[in-house]
Parts: sequence; C-alpha cells; structure tokens
Amino acid sequence: MAATRLQLAHLPTPITRSDALDALVGTQVWLKRDDMTAGAAAGNKIRKLEYLLADACEQEATVVVTCGGYQSNHARATTLLARQLGMRAVLLLRATRPNPVPDRGNAFLDALAGADIRPIAPAQYADRMREMEAVAQELRAAGERPYVIPEGGSNGIGALGYVHAMAEIREQLDAGVNDAPDRFDAVAHACGSGGTAAGALLGCAAREVAPRVLAMAVCDDRSYFEATIDRIVAQARALLDEPHPQAALRVLDAYKGPAYGIASDEQRRFIAQAARACGLVLDPVYSGKALFGLSRMPDKPRRVLFIHTGGLPGLLAQADEFGLQG
Ligand SMILES: Cc1ncc(COP(=O)(O)O)c(C=O)c1O
Repeated sequence: MAATRLQLAHLPTPITRSDALDALVGTQVWLKRDDMTAGAAAGNKIRKLEYLLADACEQEATVVVTCGGYQSNHARATTLLARQLGMRAVLLLRATRPNPVPDRGNAFLDALAGADIRPIAPAQYADRMREMEAVAQELRAAGERPYVIPEGGSNGIGALGYVHAMAEIREQLDAGVNDAPDRFDAVAHACGSGGTAAGALLGCAAREVAPRVLAMAVCDDRSYFEATIDRIVAQARALLDEPHPQAALRVLDAYKGPAYGIASDEQRRFIAQAARACGLVLDPVYSGKALFGLSRMPDKPRRVLFIHTGGLPGLLAQADEFGLQG
C-alpha cells in the first residue's frame, strides 16, 4: 500500500469462537475482536486512524478536527490518539439538548483528555463538512495547522485500515486459527459511516477472506450506504498501488432499532443474553444491533466472521436504559 501507517493498535486482534454464541446467533460465528485493538482508544476506529493520523503527522498538523454524535466512539479514539501523538482535538458533536454535560461514556473520556468539545445542533450537523472547514479556518487564523477528519474517519485513507485488517485475517486463517474455515461465507459488522465496509470489501476480495460483506446499518438506509460505501471504495482504490477486486456488498437496514443510538427492548435483551451466555459484551449503538441483526436474518450465512468493532463506553453511557436490578 502506498499510504503510510502508524502502528497504534495492538495487532493482530484475536479471532475467537464460542458454542454458546453460535447457539444464540443461530449460525457459526467467529469473532474478530477489534474491541481489543487498544485500551481506552479501542474499537474499529483506531485502524482507520493509523492511516489518517499518519497523514496528519506528515502534514505536521498541530490539531485534529473531527465530528460525530455526542457519544461518538470515533471522536473519543481520535482525541486519545491525537494526544498520544502530541496533538489536540476539536470535536463538533451533535447534541439534541443545549449545554450537554460530558459526564459519561465517550464524552467523559473526550473531556478527560481535554478535547475542545463544541456541541452543535442536528441542523448544523447536517452540514458537518462545512462546519469543520469553518473551524479549520479559525484555527489557521490562530496560527495552528488543523487536519480535518470526516465523520467516523470514513474516507479513502481511513478505509485502508480495513484493507489492512483483511490481510491480517488472511494470515490468521492460514495459521489455522480456532478451526476457522479457509474462507468464510461472509464478513459482518456494524455500519455507521461506511468506512469499515469499504475497506472490508476491498480487503476481503484481495485476500479471499469471504465473497461478501454484510454491512448492518445502525442509521440511514440501504441506498444511502450503497452510495456512500461506493464513493469511499473509489477513494481507497485510488490510494492502493495495485488494482483491487471488490467483494459483494449487502447492506441490511432492517435491524437498526428505533433510531440511531437507541436500542429496542428486544435488542437490549439480546445484549444481556450475549453477556450471560459467554461473557461477550456488545454495545447498544453498533455491535449489539449488528449481531442482533445477524441472529434475526432469515437467510443467515453458515460461517460468518463478525467484526466486533468495540463501543464499550457507549454501553456504559446507557446503563440506566437497561434497567437491571442488583
Ligand atoms: C463501535 C463502532 N462500531 C461500528 C462503527 C461503524 O463503523 P463505520 O463508521 O466504519 O461504518 C462505529 C462507528 O461509526 C463504531 O463506533
């Protein structure tokens, strides 16, 4: 690959299996534990940030500007990794109420690491690229060198993180990890901004990991993601130094629950069942909805590699919603 990569994540992440999880999901599932890519910066975002922050460093950036929901995992990972590299972060976070307090989950970690948190209303967030560019202008005028990262780290550079991840998985399969097949029937994961899917599509085909990727939407809909992922794939292809084939994409948008960031009672029950069946902790915004969706698919693939993309702080921020008794 032509792009530079910083080594920020603990790799390779394990590929694990559990009979109890197979029984819960109703098919054979191998888990790619990308929830274990790091300590507090863990999750799928760090793989994208290995490339994005390498680019920021090459450009001698002093500050990183990014955006996301108020409980964005991407914003939290960006803040912590930027600090690790001697930069600060300015975060435009979508907030539905004025003056939110960053007292839990991802937002708490952002505040702990001294991110410049700028809550913005949903209407303003709709124009997030322009809003971030305005912040970048302001920072330039103050003598800083800003580096703007789009929502979720999802552009061509960020997607390279999951092209690389598929090469890592190929090596694990070649080494015979946990009775995994030589090739899965599908790779599945939560899809929020499309970058993971774009990278997985390219890497999956090049490394013969699986013929298809199931992108389990947690917001928006199928046609939105098909177009978005296509665009990111084209950007990533332009950065790769050899032609890359592409696996088949299937976007599933029927399992995203009541709204982005809000899980149904059934989804929360599924998350508790996974924790109780085999100690697997999923979050109610991304991985919990995605694995729930896989378990409810009428035509589940037989052997699936499910990428656990992390999101633990988002779960902890919603502890009250689970209504568990001691
Ligand atoms: C925990 C977690 N899982 C999955 C995703 C989805 O990844 P992507 O934004 O690349 O679609 C995100 C971010 O949006 C995330 O934070």
